Amino acid sequence: MRTMAKRVLHDKYFKLAKAEGYVARSAYKLLEIDERYRVLNRGKWVLDVGCAPGSWLQVAAERVGPRGRVVGIDLQRVDHRMPDNVVMFEGDAEQVPPEVLLELVGGEVGGDLFHSVLSDMAPKTTGHVDDLVSARLCRSVLKLLPDLLRPGGHLVMKILEGQEYPLVLRETQRMFDHAKGFKPNASRDVSREMFIVGKRFKGPRPAKTADSNAVSPESKEPNAETTP
Ligand SMILES: C[S@@+](CC[C@H](N)C(=O)[O-])C[C@H]1O[C@@H](n2cnc3c(N)ncnc32)[C@H](O)[C@@H]1O
Repeated sequence: MRTMAKRVLHDKYFKLAKAEGYVARSAYKLLEIDERYRVLNRGKWVLDVGCAPGSWLQVAAERVGPRGRVVGIDLQRVDHRMPDNVVMFEGDAEQVPPEVLLELVGGEVGGDLFHSVLSDMAPKTTGHVDDLVSARLCRSVLKLLPDLLRPGGHLVMKILEGQEYPLVLRETQRMFDHAKGFKPNASRDVSREMFIVGKRFKGPRPAKTADSNAVSPESKEPNAETTP
């Protein structure tokens, strides 16, 4: 029993993380997702929701480079020293009123919108309701996107597989040009976690007006691929 626990804890990614200076093995999940889907680009702005202990912050900071910016939020403090282009806030992403969150994180990018939003948020509890809590956390992220993510931007969001997973995936698909579930090799085999990757956010829905042909201001937003 003890040997098995040790083997699981000290697996290949755990050792790699130690050797390469990442604060957690989950760094390799994001690296793998980014290799495949290109969600982190140089000079861009990234929001990481549920960022502690900080390995995704480290990966995102490397990928966006010194001219990019990474903003993290978590219930817990990030104790590990982070690169200079990272700033972190303590707070509950579900409870902080959206306008306060917007002011907090948006202020870090000059009131502008992010190019990518990441969420590795996970419920603290363990048990059969975890997947429902996970879906709720995902929906809280989806709700923030119109105010935080620029049209053309990307999303990576962890979800525990369960009855709500296909529904949350469909909700995400409606908001992005493409969205699909992906399980990186670095995810433990026994884990029910999946990552929903959304490419090219469609942006906020235009408000319904009498003149349905009116062009919404959002549709004039620059594309994430072309602006810093
Ligand atoms: C799996 S860890 C994230 C690991 C991180 N991506 C990394 O690589 O270091 C999940 C995090 O989600 C955070 N979390 C859960 N619910 C949250 C909420 N409502 N608001 C902010 N953070 C939350 C937890 O505090 C925890 O630190």
